[in-house]
Amino acid sequence: MRAMKNIVILISGRGSNMQAIVKAARAEQWPARIAAVVSNRADAEGLAFAEKAGIATCVVPSKDYSDREAFDRALQTAIDSFAPDLVVLAGFMRILTASFVDHYEGRLMNIHPSLLPNFTGLATHRQALAAGVRVHGATVHFVTAELDHGPIVDQAIVSVMPEDTEQSLAERVLIQEHIIYPRAVRWFIEGRLTIEDGRVRVAA
Ligand code: GRF
Repeated sequence: MRAMKNIVILISGRGSNMQAIVKAARAEQWPARIAAVVSNRADAEGLAFAEKAGIATCVVPSKDYSDREAFDRALQTAIDSFAPDLVVLAGFMRILTASFVDHYEGRLMNIHPSLLPNFTGLATHRQALAAGVRVHGATVHFVTAELDHGPIVDQAIVSVMPEDTEQSLAERVLIQEHIIYPRAVRWFIEGRLTIEDGRVRVAA
């Protein structure tokens, strides 16, 4: 195996999780390079950061594809041209086909802004407030064909305050996302993660 592992990060927007991973990889000198940042939207704000950081960027515009299969095939071709060891979904707002997910089995990670299995899908902070939960958070997980499911790598907990709004809650959760996502990616790069019976073990 190559000493340096290739990470490809997929974004659709702001890309703050992508930035956190890029910064951690450099500051901590991971044996990995961010080989590319790929977006399904040309206007994703995160692309500018990646370009400035000297990272290859690539846009596969989802709006140009009428069917999901064709888009996912084009996306897969673009990603695979960077020979990824790990594909990281960081605010990538697309539902992926089963064949795409299968192709990257065991090397496709996502972060979801809730304590899974609670509050899958969109508007997770609104869902949490509506449910009246006292704790909320974020989950890093391997991706499987079922949306927002898949073996959990790590979670972070945030207390929900009576005065919280969707925005205030989102901000506090995001701070935790920027801690747990780079750390989970690093564990993968270090070869410390194994999946057994749908559960992730983190080796010491
Ligand atoms: C994050 O809250 C992430 O958990 C969710 O979408 C948001 C993306 O933010 N999937 P960013 O693009 O990483 O800033």
